[in-house]
Amino acid sequence: MSNQSTLSTPLKLRSGLTLKNRLCKSAMNEAIATGEGRVVRQFEVLYRTWAEGGAGLLVTGNVMVDKRHANEPLAVAVEDEKDALLLQLWANAAKSKGAQIWAQLSHPGKQSPKFLNSAPVAPSAIPLASDMFVPPRELTETEIEDIIQRFTTTASVLKTAGFDGVQLHGAHGYLISQFLSPNHNKRTDKWGGSLENRMRFVTEVYKSIRAKVGKKFAIGIKLNSSDFQKGGFTNEESIEVCKTLDKLGIDMIEISGGSWENPVNRKGNLKESTKQREAYFLEFSEQLKKNVSAPIMVTGGFRSQRAMEEAVESGATDIVGLARPFAIDPDLANKILKGQGYLSTVKPISTGIKKIDDMAIMEISWYTDQIRRMSEGKDPKTKVRGLISVADVLFNFWRRGQQVKRVRA
Ligand SMILES: Cc1cc2nc3c(=O)[nH]c(=O)nc-3n(C[C@H](O)[C@H](O)[C@H](O)COP(=O)(O)O)c2cc1C
Repeated sequence: MSNQSTLSTPLKLRSGLTLKNRLCKSAMNEAIATGEGRVVRQFEVLYRTWAEGGAGLLVTGNVMVDKRHANEPLAVAVEDEKDALLLQLWANAAKSKGAQIWAQLSHPGKQSPKFLNSAPVAPSAIPLASDMFVPPRELTETEIEDIIQRFTTTASVLKTAGFDGVQLHGAHGYLISQFLSPNHNKRTDKWGGSLENRMRFVTEVYKSIRAKVGKKFAIGIKLNSSDFQKGGFTNEESIEVCKTLDKLGIDMIEISGGSWENPVNRKGNLKESTKQREAYFLEFSEQLKKNVSAPIMVTGGFRSQRAMEEAVESGATDIVGLARPFAIDPDLANKILKGQGYLSTVKPISTGIKKIDDMAIMEISWYTDQIRRMSEGKDPKTKVRGLISVADVLFNFWRRGQQVKRVRA
């Protein structure tokens, strides 16, 4: 494993901050906040565990900018300073071994399930193809401005609490991605139509946050390489958005893909070249690198040290993003950096019942359960059966969902 140093090479970002190595724990919903989205001490426990694991960058799961609009139960929401102390403890724990912590800022738009949200909003009143979600109402221009302010306020509160940066969640079919998609954005005002108009929301969010937090605080984005849907956001459009954000000074672009309707971000494609290189979006990132100078991170599919090293050495990506592997092996960055030929044991989770296995909730639940265990100071328990973790997580969600309803009633 002579190339181990590639992944341990520090990377200086535009903000002036330096990542101590090229390994990042990518965003995973922690699903451990209170029913009202309040921060709890378990975030500190969880992020201390990941900090000790050796990654250079820890990106949090979705942090909601508006607690009325959550992507899933027990998602954390930061709207003001009321959890300032708990946020500080969270940030300090994450930074205790020299990693950086960035919070992923998110608004789900119409991808907010109906047991949580009876009045979701979106760029246009176009329903998702599932009765899990109430059809959305079209946002007014005043509401769009309000959401931009909410992103800005959340970023500012997190900066004060000691976070090193934020990552805009512009992927996976959430609000920013809905604005970008010609399928989901049919507006005829300045927020829809041409690509320039469809990307106005994300660029205004970026500019507003930057004006508030200054240049030394990192702002990144997680963006779809494409929606992988007919008539959706394409590779070419994604490159144009990245070029614009690059010129505006974005600190990092993380590449992912798909949406709730088509979760390629966790499944990848079946191309032989992809199987060899493991990561799903490397071909796209190679294309993107020719067009932007901001550092690129690719997330999705990396399992072996060999593939991670090759991806960085070939220049296809600057940073390796890993999600599921960190949920079952929080210490994996240390193992990789020791150069022991690491291979993650992530494998498909099965209940033995095909209908359940095909549901996105199935896999997410299993990993969510592992994250909950770590937040309680326990080790991941990879032998736990799929069906048991689904039942466990659904019960937790239902219980807290009832609390949310009571709070809102
Ligand atoms: C339990 C779980 C929760 C996730 N939550 C988020 C999230 O909050 N934000 C996000 O951008 N991606 C989220 N993802 C997607 C991951 O960041 C990542 O893109 C995907 O799992 C592919 O990477 P991997 O193959 O390394 O797991 C989540 C994935 C899992 C398994």
